[in-house]
Amino acid sequence: MLKFVRRRFDKIWRPTGGTLVQHMRARLLINAHMQEKMQRMFGSGYDSGEIEKGLDDPLILQEFRCTGANYKVIFDELIRPRLLASRTLLEIGPGRGSWTKAVLDTFPDGTLYVIDRLPLEHMIRLRCPSAGDRLRFVQSNSNDYSMFPNNLFDFAFSFGVFVHLPLREIKTLLTRLRPKMCHGGEIILHYSNWDKLDKWGWERARVPTWFRDYPNHPEVWWTKNSSEKMKRISESSGYTIVSLDLGYFQSCSVLHLKINGTNTIES
Ligand SMILES: C[S@@+](CC[C@H](N)C(=O)[O-])C[C@H]1O[C@@H](n2cnc3c(N)ncnc32)[C@H](O)[C@@H]1O
Repeated sequence: MLKFVRRRFDKIWRPTGGTLVQHMRARLLINAHMQEKMQRMFGSGYDSGEIEKGLDDPLILQEFRCTGANYKVIFDELIRPRLLASRTLLEIGPGRGSWTKAVLDTFPDGTLYVIDRLPLEHMIRLRCPSAGDRLRFVQSNSNDYSMFPNNLFDFAFSFGVFVHLPLREIKTLLTRLRPKMCHGGEIILHYSNWDKLDKWGWERARVPTWFRDYPNHPEVWWTKNSSEKMKRISESSGYTIVSLDLGYFQSCSVLHLKINGTNTIES
């Protein structure tokens, strides 16, 4: 009987993509759903290549072709100038540590916390053998930031992570992070932007075109997001927006937030 009811429901639900059970689970148990999804997609550790090599690295070149972004330019212009002595940094979602390594290689006098849903510390330490205590790995499978003291981070950044997160999760994460950031602190984060993706081309960005028709399907891994939505989320989480898009990507956006800074929106 239960099977029959489920099949009937699934038939009705099918036009919106996925089964009823998949939808209900993703909606009601968002954290468990995301944990499973991230494990499935990135459990072996996502690698963006050697950032400092720029387009000489095949993975960096591949990402450049898909997104129009050169990670070395992003690192040199957005991250490197913020690696000041004695600072405490946070990287959200390091994966296999492409950005982590680039930071640690140029940040001899400071501490880099990295937080990931997955237990990837061993992979990151293999890649950054001399990191020692400058690197602090935290695994949180629930966007829990309560283990960090308030006003800890001078600068937080994230690439290739928020592009995959549901808006609800982005809101939770930014709200919990807010008190952990210092006065005057900054956040730089990469997010998906379907308006830009439409212009750049879905095939070129290697994002499946069926996502367009079923943006809420639980298996969609490129979040339907926009500058307007990130503006709403950022402001309601207590941040000052410096820029909704610093450029750098043709297919997505880079958000620049400040904590209690000036309230100038560049774009
Ligand atoms: C595509 S990989 C990107 C890795 C790396 N930042 C890069 O650009 O090479 C996404 C990573 O984010 C992690 N992740 C996903 N959701 C997260 C969350 N809410 N908090 C922390 N890490 C998360 C995943 O486990 C995965 O390791």
